[in-house]
Amino acid sequence: MADTKPLNIGLIGYGFMGRAHSNAYRKVNSFFDLQYQPVLKACCARNEEAIQQFAQNWGYESYETDWQTLIARDDIDAIDICAPNHLHCEIAVAAARAGKMILCEKPLARTLAEAEKMCAAVEAAGVPTMVWYNYRRVPAIALAKQLVTEGRVGKPFHYRALYLQDWTIAADVPQGGNTLWRLDLDVAGSGVTGDLLAHSIDTAEWLNGPIQSVSAHTETFVKERIHQETGKMQPVGIDDACMFLAVFENGSMGTFESSRYARGRKNYNTLELNGENGSIYFDLEDHQWLQYFKYADPSTGEKTEDHLTGWQKIHVTNFEHPYMKQWWVPGCTIGYEHTFINACADFLQGLADGTPAEPVFRHGMRTQKICEAVLESARTGRWTDT
Ligand SMILES: NC(=O)c1ccc[n+]([C@@H]2O[C@H](COP(=O)([O-])OP(=O)(O)OC[C@H]3O[C@@H](n4cnc5c(N)ncnc54)[C@H](O)[C@@H]3O)[C@@H](O)[C@H]2O)c1
Repeated sequence: MADTKPLNIGLIGYGFMGRAHSNAYRKVNSFFDLQYQPVLKACCARNEEAIQQFAQNWGYESYETDWQTLIARDDIDAIDICAPNHLHCEIAVAAARAGKMILCEKPLARTLAEAEKMCAAVEAAGVPTMVWYNYRRVPAIALAKQLVTEGRVGKPFHYRALYLQDWTIAADVPQGGNTLWRLDLDVAGSGVTGDLLAHSIDTAEWLNGPIQSVSAHTETFVKERIHQETGKMQPVGIDDACMFLAVFENGSMGTFESSRYARGRKNYNTLELNGENGSIYFDLEDHQWLQYFKYADPSTGEKTEDHLTGWQKIHVTNFEHPYMKQWWVPGCTIGYEHTFINACADFLQGLADGTPAEPVFRHGMRTQKICEAVLESARTGRWTDT
């Protein structure tokens, strides 16, 4: 479109998220009517051959092998951090000081202290930010938010979240290095708590309000693994599994469970919210559906007739459903990658409106605070306030 404003992107990291975000930048303006248009100006990673190939594959105009050089470039408007967690803080603080907008992958940081530093830097610089908690942009989860807002769940009693995977069960899976940094405490900051439960926590607070206190238990099933960088057997510092109880400010109770030892579970991310007027249930591995149990109409208080009660399985593909009018015709589904395109659209729309798309860094810091409280509770064996 002739009258769009270019937004020059400098993306750091060419792995899983580097690909997901690049795809989003390329497609977003073809599906959403937006004032801003991302321009794939430069991408960055240490390995020159790999980043050159990535730049070519995704259509970046240029590449860098040092993120500081990327940040110093005048022709970059926004830095997108798709690097492992240990780099988020240093990159974000430097980018904020250089006056760049920042889009950062989750978890915002390894620790609350890092997240606070990042938040202070971007707020002092006054730069727009977004944390890629992309599950808020799954249409069925956005519809769940709408149902909660409309009072269809009513007074909440229970929130239940599971996030299960099974890829670290074998004791001979190494830790660290380029491919298994998630198992290295120094790089990741934590195990399933920061990697998986951070998603569940972000969604839970978005749908059900602030968590007040937590009581957690964590386990590390394989205590030592060979480190890919040193070649030596080293202690494993991350949590392989975490379960916690939560009390929400609204008086409801929550249970959260995450593991990378749930045989057969690949990216099993579910949530259920039970309230006085109804319940909602979502499963990421079946993400085009939202399940809703209607007990009573929130506006009239009228109860569903007994013989008609039951769970409704809503296929979230109608034009009336969140994001769906931008995509295909009713009945045709979208996928995982579209959550990043939807998020990107919201960020660009937020720039045009002056109303930042959430979660911004301050929300990411809040999730970090809860992750930290969970880990502290697991260490002390006590309930911990958030
Ligand atoms: N939103 C989500 O659902 C989601 C999913 C996966 C990962 N993530 C997050 O995204 C981030 C990246 O994860 P990933 O799965 O893409 O990891 P990955 O290992 O696939 O990719 C990481 C990239 O960072 C690059 N990198 C490492 N050190 C660097 C440095 N010093 N300078 C420049 N580049 C460097 C690597 O070369 C690699 O390209 C993590 O914070 C992770 O938690 C989020």
